[in-house]
Amino acid sequence: MQGSRGIPKSILRASIWGVSIVIPLVVVILLNLPRIDIGIETTFIPHMNALINTTVTILLAVGYFLIRRRLIELHRKVMLTAFGLSILFLVSYVLYHLTHEEVRFGGEGWVRIIYLFILITHIGLSLFIVPLALFTIYPALLGEYRNHRKLARWTLPLWLYVSVTGVLVYLFLSPYYPR
Ligand code: HEM
Repeated sequence: MQGSRGIPKSILRASIWGVSIVIPLVVVILLNLPRIDIGIETTFIPHMNALINTTVTILLAVGYFLIRRRLIELHRKVMLTAFGLSILFLVSYVLYHLTHEEVRFGGEGWVRIIYLFILITHIGLSLFIVPLALFTIYPALLGEYRNHRKLARWTLPLWLYVSVTGVLVYLFLSPYYPR
């Protein structure tokens, strides 16, 4: 079976798996390197990332609303924008952590337990977003809407959870970011 521009589907699928495995590995390696000075002020990044996560949350909700009204072209544009912004988030997240020490949450007791629950589920589920989004997008772009819809019903709530909890983690950490 051929995918887009005549690329066999098996190659498309293998590439999605490859990208999905390589991205977290590269992120973990980069985050464990010694901090570097890239000559640019990057303290604004966590605030920008929270804005990106908030925008992604809104776009995903709007994208769902659009497809419920069968506005396919707008749904396509909004969802692809959400995906593009999530990639931008990933790049700026890595850039921030390459240049700054990790910020630790200072709360104690039950607030800390809630924070850790949100953080751990956020990180754990975020690993699935790139493969889920790519496996959801490619059948849609090929016009295989039945397959798209089946997977999209998992992708959408998980992605929403990850973007909302990304904003929550930011709010928990906001008193501790360097100014
Ligand atoms: C990762 C990004 C995307 C997500 C999370 C997503 C999410 C969804 C969801 C949840 C549905 C089912 C709505 C329902 O329950 O009625 C759906 C349907 C649909 N999506 Fe997407 N979508 C994405 C990208 C795209 C793209 C790029 C296109 C390109 C045209 C597209 C086209 C469609 C169409 C045509 C349907 C209707 C399918 C049907 O009812 O048979 N989607 N999408």
